[in-house]
Amino acid sequence: MEDCVDDVRNPTEVHMSQMVMPSHANHRGQLSTGQLLKWIDTAACLSAERHAGCPCVTASMDDIYFEHTISVGQVVNLKTKVNRAFNSSMEVGIQVTSEDVCDGKEWNVCQAYATFVAQAQGNEKVKLKPVIPLTEEEKLEYSIAAERRRMRLVHTDNIKELLTKSASKDERKQEDGVNGIVLALKTRVESVELVLPPHANHQGNTFGGQIMAWMENVATIAASRLCHAYPTLKAIEMFHFRGPSQVGDRLILKAIVNNAFKDSMEVGVCVEAFSHKMDVPRRHINSAFMTFMVLDENNHPSVLPQIKPEPGDGVRRYNEANARRKIRLDRKYVISCKQSEVPLSVPWVPSNQVYLSYNNVSSLKMLVSKTKWVLASEINKVRLYTLEEDGILSFRVEMKVSIDARQAFALLSDLSRRSKWDTYYKECRLLQQVNEDDAIYHVISTIRSTESKFQDFIILASRRQPCDTGDPYVVAFRSVSLPTHPASEEYTRSETLCAGFCIWPQEGNMTKISYYNQFTPAFVSYITTNIAGLSSDFYTTFQACEQFLVENTKVSTASVKPSGGRDAKHNNV
Ligand code: COA
Ligand code: ADP
Repeated sequence: MEDCVDDVRNPTEVHMSQMVMPSHANHRGQLSTGQLLKWIDTAACLSAERHAGCPCVTASMDDIYFEHTISVGQVVNLKTKVNRAFNSSMEVGIQVTSEDVCDGKEWNVCQAYATFVAQAQGNEKVKLKPVIPLTEEEKLEYSIAAERRRMRLVHTDNIKELLTKSASKDERKQEDGVNGIVLALKTRVESVELVLPPHANHQGNTFGGQIMAWMENVATIAASRLCHAYPTLKAIEMFHFRGPSQVGDRLILKAIVNNAFKDSMEVGVCVEAFSHKMDVPRRHINSAFMTFMVLDENNHPSVLPQIKPEPGDGVRRYNEANARRKIRLDRKYVISCKQSEVPLSVPWVPSNQVYLSYNNVSSLKMLVSKTKWVLASEINKVRLYTLEEDGILSFRVEMKVSIDARQAFALLSDLSRRSKWDTYYKECRLLQQVNEDDAIYHVISTIRSTESKFQDFIILASRRQPCDTGDPYVVAFRSVSLPTHPASEEYTRSETLCAGFCIWPQEGNMTKISYYNQFTPAFVSYITTNIAGLSSDFYTTFQACEQFLVENTKVSTASVKPSGGRDAKHNNV
């Protein structure tokens, strides 16, 4: 029976269950996050190695938010699997739950994504085989993994740019309450670790999880020096292992509280490796930023003392911690909300632009991956499907066109041309070409609001080329708000949560084009009449779209760089 289950199981899936013993716990009887990070890294690395068939190293960890602490006597369950392989790197998804053995209850502890890189035997870079996703959930993770990779690879530069641009504003207000003032210097920790064989794999490379555990240790000491209590680690910001370290290296770990907010503090940790060989220079292994809280017996956060930074680097880090907090909060607002809870018009501000673009594309990919679409109408092979889920209604219109997919992508991603075929678009003006793949438009619709005014929209259009063969071209739309373009008296400002095109190359020169739209009140009459079969608007609109595409086949695709698949290193970036 068990064998049958294993037959259908993803071959890279690894399960690990650990009973939390006092030796894994801190003095409060809670599992130390460092130990958990070691288990996460071990299980995730095994998944990566199962796929790669060779040794792998941890390249990076995405943000991790810890929802629950775990107590001695409970069981920790980890489930990891490779979501997608790129060239030499793979994204591994990790799910951690805790289980109370006495009453059988289970809680989510955290969800994480790590990137592992396959290590070549010689000088040749490893070329990994692709992951073939089978289940609906695997297909979704596979699809969004490309978007997460894109965000990961721009993360360091993006944060650097935001920190240089950010004004040094102190967010802590007097009315927040203050619980004393502590000199940042008093929280400073320095510690050394010697990398021994049990800390490393069989090739002598230090396990990433071991380094994370050592980092968590020094960060916790720094945090406790601020509050004179036992702090709880709530989040670790995305970080990257810049270079390997080996058995015999001495790792110097340094930590300090960079800033304390009302009920959370940011601790920064920096790791450097020193070799016992005199001629090898010290190496910066990584730096991470961790958020701690101090929870009382009712799990309520305590008010923290204020921090007084050292002049120079201390003040810089204090200001940068303020900026990182703002970025963190903006990101949480955009990314961690459930689809139905995402606020519609999120302001387009520098600190959340990368995340809004991510959210735009990943929301559309989520809608595309749904399987419960129902065919509502079909006219001359143009099909209208609907989907009702969690009280949200969505529609999809699909047709096949004799045109090259790349040309269709170039034409449909230029929203300013949409009024040429879509009668619901009165006017569309490019407001901001953010980068090669993201642009903001002002759209005036021919649909009137209940106030009898035309509706207008501020739309972020994000387009993506296929990351690999089999991926579609994607053009995603969502509303944002621009301070420079507030709602006017002339129009009723309306919003769209998730819409866009998926363009799939087919046999010959055929292309399947699917248009998706999640229901918002702005489209109510359009969608209900079409679904009820009372109107064939959807057909006439998409027939006009086909005609527009065919007539414009000579469009320049210069702005669309050729898709190099997985061979193109940062093709999807
Ligand atoms: N996050 C995720 N993946 C990253 C990354 C990041 N911040 N930076 C690089 N990568 C990926 C690249 O996209 C590339 O993937 P691909 O081959 O699928 O396209 C892969 O890493 C290799 O990139 P490349 O540019 O060839 O090498 P690099 O010089 O950037 O090195 C590492 C990347 C990870 C190999 C290197 O930094 C390293 O050895 N780090 C230490 C790893 C380690 O030992 N970890 C254990 C604890 S020390
Ligand atoms: P930065 O100094 O620009 O923040 P680093 O990578 O040098 O970046 O360090 C990351 C974090 O590690 C710092 O923000 C700080 O919190 C901590 N750190 C760095 N150097 C020291 C040090 N000498 N002593 C204590 N903590 C340090």
